[in-house]
Amino acid sequence: MSVDVMAGREIPPSVREFLGTAGVLVIDGEERGSSDGGTFTTVDPATEEVLAEVPQATAADVDAAVQAAKRAHDDGRWRGLDPSKRASALFKVADALKKHANDLAWVDTLDHGKPLKNALGEIISASNCFRYFAGWVDKAMGDVIPARNGRFVYSQREPVGVCAQIIPWNFPLLMAAWKIAPALAFGNTTVLKPAEQTPLSAVWLVRILTEVGIPDGVVNLVQGPGEGTGQALIEHPDVDKIAFTGSTEVGKHIMRTAADNLAKVTLELGGKSPNLVFSDVEDLDKLARRSAFACFYNAGEVCTAGSRLVVDAAIHDELVSKVAAAADGTKLGPGWVDGVGMGPLVTDEHLQRVAGYVDIAKQDGAELVTGGTPPDDLDTGYFFRPTVFDGVTPDMRIAQEEVFGPVLAVQRFEDEDEAVALANDVSYGLAAAVWTRDVGRAHRVASQLQAGTVWINTYGDIDTTVSFGGMKQSGMGRELGPHAVEAYTQVKSVWVAT
Ligand code: TAP
Repeated sequence: MSVDVMAGREIPPSVREFLGTAGVLVIDGEERGSSDGGTFTTVDPATEEVLAEVPQATAADVDAAVQAAKRAHDDGRWRGLDPSKRASALFKVADALKKHANDLAWVDTLDHGKPLKNALGEIISASNCFRYFAGWVDKAMGDVIPARNGRFVYSQREPVGVCAQIIPWNFPLLMAAWKIAPALAFGNTTVLKPAEQTPLSAVWLVRILTEVGIPDGVVNLVQGPGEGTGQALIEHPDVDKIAFTGSTEVGKHIMRTAADNLAKVTLELGGKSPNLVFSDVEDLDKLARRSAFACFYNAGEVCTAGSRLVVDAAIHDELVSKVAAAADGTKLGPGWVDGVGMGPLVTDEHLQRVAGYVDIAKQDGAELVTGGTPPDDLDTGYFFRPTVFDGVTPDMRIAQEEVFGPVLAVQRFEDEDEAVALANDVSYGLAAAVWTRDVGRAHRVASQLQAGTVWINTYGDIDTTVSFGGMKQSGMGRELGPHAVEAYTQVKSVWVAT
């Protein structure tokens, strides 16, 4: 029997009202359409209903946004404010996000498809991100340098300038917060471009920024596809820095483009993260649940997804069957339905891409344990069953390429050296986990894993207080935590004759 995806979809009136007004660009404090009247639609991936019509920013709109950000940077209306006033504004943003958390969670659930409770957690994380960076406003300190007799030398940290910030669709509001909060904390101005699949919650965020008194032009919002709007933004000669989160392929293109203007670049890119399980783990049931969570959370649309389960041969069969049972036990459905563990994929196009990887894995000789198809009972929406492939070898594409969907590749090892070799045998280096009760092995393996984040006996912990970013082809630079100061400031050395 087919499930009615509209059942229980009781959108709060405040969210309905917002959807009716969300189709705007925000340039120099003004909400407006695009200069040529062009629009695109954004769709609820669970119901396939159009949620809103959104203006598609032209190159002229992008130029207007960058010029607004440049004027705001040059005249110091934000960086020149007393730090206590800037911090106070960012604390107010954190409070407002918390106040509107329920509504914002609905917006991201409708736009992306994720379960409401997960969306709510992300909005609270976004609030915490603003709160954390509010505390940084007056802490980007310089040094006094004992350079030479007769000279007094000090350094100071200054904002980089106009930041182009480009984000993906998997955590819409949270990714916007990760970009805007540190940029503002360190005195920059910005032009944000959300992904065209999830443009909505950023509009609410920018309205909050205006309400708390952040001056016009400091944060500008352009909407539209990467190849038009995004391209105009990364090519713009007045952009001083590009902060990008997205695929490795587009990240490389951005870096090449940025070279023309020598714009500074930070890149948070893809992953194919290994989840290493040794046979001495305590509780295989718990481990199976955590391994499924590591790969299937947010429908696998997570840069740090534990998409490779690298498991000790001694427990391989038992663990794989338990992970498959956890996958089969995941309730699929629209994000507003109680007990749903996994929503739809973000678009039909993405669903086809994920299904394509299932075909490739089969052709390459991987063994399909479970999943691999859309569910039988959901005719509407872009749903796909959690999928497990066993017998994956490093030469297979499913072992090497990021699917960005709910597809787990299982690889088997005989000893620690092989486990580490398998884990590192990919071009990515975003995250990795190791599960063992042997404390020596835990630290030994952690130190050998080529990844920007390593978890020991846990998976997926991320916090604004902890620096985050990738090794190898997973990125460049670090966001969050104390290292954000490097991403959003530049150092000036000042020499004084005494
Ligand atoms: P991408 O296709 O790379 O898109 C990311 C953003 O870049 C979107 O806003 C996209 O716009 C824009 N874009 C595309 N081409 C562009 C161009 N030529 N110039 C400027 N902007 C351009 O990635 P995605 O499919 O949205 O997201 C999935 C990827 O993001 C995965 O690889 C995932 O691992 C990665 N990701 C990484 C992290 C971290 S923190 N490392 C976090 C989340 C996601 P449109 O989509 O509107 O065309």
